[in-house]
Amino acid sequence: MVPSVDGRLAILATLLISFAVITALRRFVENRRNRPPLPPGPVPLPLIGNVLSIDAKEPWLTYTRWRAVYGDLVFVRILDQDAVVINSQHVAQALMDKRSRIYSDRPYLATVKPYGWSINFAFIAYGDEWRLSRRLFHQTFRPESAVKFRPIQMRRAREMIVNLIDEPQHYHTHFATFSSSVAMSVVYDYQLSARDDPLVRIAEHAQALGLVMLTPERAILLKTFPFLLKLPDWCWGSSIKRDAQASTNALNEMADVPFRYAQQHMAENSFLDQCSMVPENLKRMEKQDQASKPIFEAALKKAATSAIMGSIETTTSTLMAFAFAMMSYPDVQRRAQAEIDSVVGRDRLPTFEDRASLPYVESVLRETWRWHPITPLGVAHAVSSDDIYEWLLHPKRSISRDEKRYPEASRFMPERFIDVNGALTDDDPAEYVFGLGRRGCPGRYAADASVWSAIVTMLATVNFSSAKDDQGNVINFTPQFTTGLVHSVMAFPCSILPRSHIRSELVDVDV
Ligand code: HEM
Repeated sequence: MVPSVDGRLAILATLLISFAVITALRRFVENRRNRPPLPPGPVPLPLIGNVLSIDAKEPWLTYTRWRAVYGDLVFVRILDQDAVVINSQHVAQALMDKRSRIYSDRPYLATVKPYGWSINFAFIAYGDEWRLSRRLFHQTFRPESAVKFRPIQMRRAREMIVNLIDEPQHYHTHFATFSSSVAMSVVYDYQLSARDDPLVRIAEHAQALGLVMLTPERAILLKTFPFLLKLPDWCWGSSIKRDAQASTNALNEMADVPFRYAQQHMAENSFLDQCSMVPENLKRMEKQDQASKPIFEAALKKAATSAIMGSIETTTSTLMAFAFAMMSYPDVQRRAQAEIDSVVGRDRLPTFEDRASLPYVESVLRETWRWHPITPLGVAHAVSSDDIYEWLLHPKRSISRDEKRYPEASRFMPERFIDVNGALTDDDPAEYVFGLGRRGCPGRYAADASVWSAIVTMLATVNFSSAKDDQGNVINFTPQFTTGLVHSVMAFPCSILPRSHIRSELVDVDV
């Protein structure tokens, strides 16, 4: 008799659990026998380690609590993976920066390759393939190169203001459009259509599909039973293989379609701006010998897809945190606006040339990075030589909420970055929110300029305040946050109105 679906599920679960039990017990015993002294940490349970003690939705809260008990280095076991949580910027620098040769790998996740995510070099192992893509990325986005994107960033910020004033209720969409349009311009020299852009739709679909599927449970299942990817289509359990294929197809489409657009425009010589990443490198590729072209092209496609995947959600989430802060702390907004009015005046909008004269706006940016770090756990590093740790976690959140360094850390207080003379202090959270060492965020300088251009333009042109109901009462709400790699405040009730002196000629997008 063929067992029922429930029966087969039970058999698979039993097999899975037995296998996991045996593997974990073996490891547990071996580890006990061979291990040198470890950093302190909570006592792990056999098989599951410390999983049950970690807050599943906001794990950084647990790590911050453990920091108070065990110190800057905490040893944790997550199922069968050993991890060290680094709760201090100094220790993180000592390991990830100074010893980055061995601390720059990524932990193995069994889902990355089958689900097509190795098209993003953020997830691939430290080695030659990563090195080539990262080098191409760096040539376009290193600090001296990234300045050439400033006019595009400022133009897109002003377009965003026009949309914000027209349809303030869709502010989240306007932030996302800003992030995508900057990314698509600087990577492919592609100009987004005003609404429902086909390439943005492809990118959003691919990322959404992958994020739903890339759960830790699936990674563990595939690590334990890799044969699941080889089951014939008619076999029960083969849906994992089909999901992996669907995700890979969507990500390949996301990588290929804009790349083909760039190749076609290259052939027609119709680029507006050849300093964007792909056009610039396609030009370089023309001079290469035939043999090295395929390797170069694959690395370029990977670098371009990684830039798109790395930038859109991160930039949008940072702008969401900024809007939330401005609405919640009207005094901060007023003070930043007063600085802009006195330095820039009310007859024009700020430009990058004004940046050095606007220290308070700069402190608002720093506080935005610190207040709700959008990657509160960072991205795990792994060790590529014999060492005692398999995973290194560097939660930004335990640093940014350290009460000794940031008194009243949960408050949004840009003044903490201003000294008694009104100048900026040496403390810049960008030094830790973008990660450290060879795997540190290579889009950092472009991200900083995008976010600065957006927030300074918003401060100069609009007011964020609490939304009110029909009776004029403030609408109270509890902020909700997304969970996962990117931690973002979700859309909340908010009123966005143009400042009194704002006329349409002022928001002239030609910069
Ligand atoms: C807006 C704010 C952003 C934040 C807070 C942020 C943060 C991070 C963090 C924490 C990492 C992991 C670093 C590590 O492993 O130590 C990372 C990696 C990465 N970021 Fe960003 N990022 C941002 C924007 C961007 C942008 C705009 C781009 C592209 C232009 C980008 C591209 C990447 C890439 C490709 C990696 C993978 C690096 C590697 O594994 O070698 N990021 N980012």
